[in-house]
Amino acid sequence: MTAIRNIVILTGAGISAESGLRTFRAEDGLWEDHRVEDVATPQAFRRDPELVQRFYDLRRENVLAAQPNPAHQALARLDREWPGELLIVTQNIDDLHERAGAQRVLHMHGEALSAWCTACHARHHWTSTLLDSPPCPACGAAALRPDIVWFGEMPYEMERIFSALARADLFVSIGTSGAVYPAAGFVQQAASHGARTLELNLERSLGSSMFDETRLGPASEIVPAWVEEVLG
Ligand code: APR
Repeated sequence: MTAIRNIVILTGAGISAESGLRTFRAEDGLWEDHRVEDVATPQAFRRDPELVQRFYDLRRENVLAAQPNPAHQALARLDREWPGELLIVTQNIDDLHERAGAQRVLHMHGEALSAWCTACHARHHWTSTLLDSPPCPACGAAALRPDIVWFGEMPYEMERIFSALARADLFVSIGTSGAVYPAAGFVQQAASHGARTLELNLERSLGSSMFDETRLGPASEIVPAWVEEVLG
């Protein structure tokens, strides 16, 4: 194996499942009892802002009540100790990577604990409700929305992600079903630039055959084992 220096890690809902946060693609096709298009699209927000704000109020409460698990802690240790480049790109809106101590984290689908003012575009750390249209602390407009990338919107910081993927020697995907693009395409992107690719998941994802190697099991076990191996 050639020496690795630059690592890109993609995480999804599976890494936070053992912290008590539900994954998206449940058997019944519903997300916390809602159809995705009723709560996670700009159209839904225009149609029924109260429903959407209430939905994300609940997500915010769940995130605040959850604790990082050994998989988040292992990645935080890797971030602290890895001397080369490292980027944790997460699709998750929780802050469990950060609370475990990781710093090189990018939230491509936004953050539950952030509110975005659609009038002045300021972003604010937010832990309470967004119902009843509170004023933006920066401009005073009642125009705050969850700082979440909804279906049909552009994920954040794609340029930075693609540039990290192009330099990666190792790409690792953890706890994601591979159902949502562009994240599902990162494995091919990294491989096309010569990176080795590894999948760590409870079950084979949709794009499993695109990885050089797949290891199956709960994130709280297989992620710490992999980090131990990498740090030697
Ligand atoms: N350990 C490891 N993997 C797990 C665990 C676990 N304990 N529990 C579940 N998984 C795996 C599942 O097998 C599944 O493959 O995690 C994956 C979760 O898949 P999804 O629910 O589809 O979540 P994700 O891939 O993050 O979804 C992507 O879709 O709805 C949108 O924007 C939302 O960011 C989200 C995106």
